[in-house]
Amino acid sequence: MANMSINLVLYHGSMLPHETVPCLRRPTRTRALATDRALQVSTERSSCSGSYCSSCCFHSKGCSTIRWKRLVRSCSTTEFVIAGDENYGNKQVVSLTPRLYDYVLKNVREPEILRQLREETASMRGSQMQVSPDQAQLLAMLVQILGAERCIEVGVFTGYSSLAIALVLPDSGRLVACERDAKSLDVAKKYYHLAGVSHKVDVKLGLAADSLESLILNGEAGSYDFAFIDAEKRMTPGYFELLLQLVRVGGLVVIDNVLWHGKVADPLVNDPKTISIRNFNQQLMEDKRVSLSMVPIGDGMTICRKR
Ligand SMILES: C[S@@+](CC[C@H](N)C(=O)[O-])C[C@H]1O[C@@H](n2cnc3c(N)ncnc32)[C@H](O)[C@@H]1O
Repeated sequence: MANMSINLVLYHGSMLPHETVPCLRRPTRTRALATDRALQVSTERSSCSGSYCSSCCFHSKGCSTIRWKRLVRSCSTTEFVIAGDENYGNKQVVSLTPRLYDYVLKNVREPEILRQLREETASMRGSQMQVSPDQAQLLAMLVQILGAERCIEVGVFTGYSSLAIALVLPDSGRLVACERDAKSLDVAKKYYHLAGVSHKVDVKLGLAADSLESLILNGEAGSYDFAFIDAEKRMTPGYFELLLQLVRVGGLVVIDNVLWHGKVADPLVNDPKTISIRNFNQQLMEDKRVSLSMVPIGDGMTICRKR
């Protein structure tokens, strides 16, 4: 997979793979794309319905770092990314435009208390760190599918993902919530209280690695069902090792931000955080201790199941 060249092509939903459509309103980044060192921009023309690209990914915030490789523009509200490599049979994968993502969000059943917490956090510094509602819903779903009773979160912030987990835990369940920032934990604790789940959450204020090591020293290895890592990215490999000890066979360790705004797939981006996440993703691919699934939700989450 790592050495395989995949042509990613955005195209109009009703068109054939590899066809491209000219936009009536030219994407502002066309020139940038055309000169992008590693990329080739297609100049093919084909029919266009005449709609303009108001939801085109070229105008979306999320594309600034990814820059769709080897192509393209789309005028449609239905956009796909095509794995152009013939080994993938020109598989179509939907590409999230802002409009489509709004639709996804409209189909999330976000509990009222989580909505309130999200809205309160929105005005706070670092609010973009919070997992998205669709991610939180997936985390909660995984916890429920597992029938998890004992969970750990590394990186609580104001508590959005931890509250989503705590809400679906049984009354006897326990979530160890590790966070070093007391101020954001205050918000989290307020919402645990409002949601009536405080008794399920064991807040650990301090460095997460210390908290996880104490759990191991306390003889709790192999006793957890589910863990979620969402803290300092360069520490992720260390947290993963500790959590793999704490989670039972069949339990899950979920890691957030594995796509890192798309930078992991761009060989021209080599800052320390990106390298660290890219290396960790590679390391996970080779890690026989887990089975895994990288899910392109939010900023990318990898779900690892301990073998
Ligand atoms: C991305 S945010 C977590 C977002 C949270 N999962 C949510 O959905 O709202 C990362 C959090 O990890 C915390 N953090 C970073 N390094 C840490 C460490 N070494 N120990 C404990 N917490 C840490 C930060 O203070 C921050 O609140």
